[in-house]
Amino acid sequence: MNKNKIMKKILTADNTETFLNEEVGESYHSQTGAVEEALKKYALPCNIKELAKTGRIKILDVCFGLGYNSAMAISVALQENQRCEIEVVGLENDAAILEKIQEVSPPILFYKHYQRLHPGRLEFYERTVHVQVILGDARETVKKLLDEHFDAIFFDPFSPKTAPAMWSINLFQEMARVMKSTAVLATYSCARMVRENMSAAGLIYDEGPIVGRRGPGTVATKWKY
Ligand SMILES: C[S@@+](CC[C@H](N)C(=O)[O-])C[C@H]1O[C@@H](n2cnc3c(N)ncnc32)[C@H](O)[C@@H]1O
Repeated sequence: MNKNKIMKKILTADNTETFLNEEVGESYHSQTGAVEEALKKYALPCNIKELAKTGRIKILDVCFGLGYNSAMAISVALQENQRCEIEVVGLENDAAILEKIQEVSPPILFYKHYQRLHPGRLEFYERTVHVQVILGDARETVKKLLDEHFDAIFFDPFSPKTAPAMWSINLFQEMARVMKSTAVLATYSCARMVRENMSAAGLIYDEGPIVGRRGPGTVATKWKY
């Protein structure tokens, strides 16, 4: 199937663009605001501003898509500390969505650098920032990542209804494995199954921020603070 035909560009409520995947029946971001979601559901609850002050941040962007979540986090971090060293690892299984990065222009400062990414170029360095996308099923590619490596995880698969296998106990166990003891994982979903699976994987969940008129997201850590 020609994936270009099933991805339709749409405008979300904060006037920023995303794509609707007509095969999956879901968009890549919340229709209440794609860029707002990147900031309020991912960068802020994962304490990116505070982490930037330490001078070093490692972010795992699970289900990278157009890369809004980590591009926003980099922008927030560099605004706080322009010398911050930032490593982003993105996990994505669909090369076709990487081609779409050229077709959007979200108001995210660092995004112009993300536009160097495409299926033939999965990595770049820009001053103190290193971004790398690993193409493949995240349930497999995550296994290559080091233990206790990341300060923040942005966990953004399609919904639990559409993609239940992406919200499994096994995958949350892998997330816990690669999280530093102080790391925060953030996701937009507040589904009961998601939270139960996080608990079964040894994570401690809490309410994430409420953005727009949707339910809260979920944040998870390895220890209760
Ligand atoms: C809701 S979108 C995420 C949007 C993304 N965070 C962004 O800022 O554009 C879900 C993404 O998960 C990807 N995906 C679906 N199944 C996957 C899998 N098994 N492994 C890795 N990525 C997957 C899809 O291709 C899609 O890009």
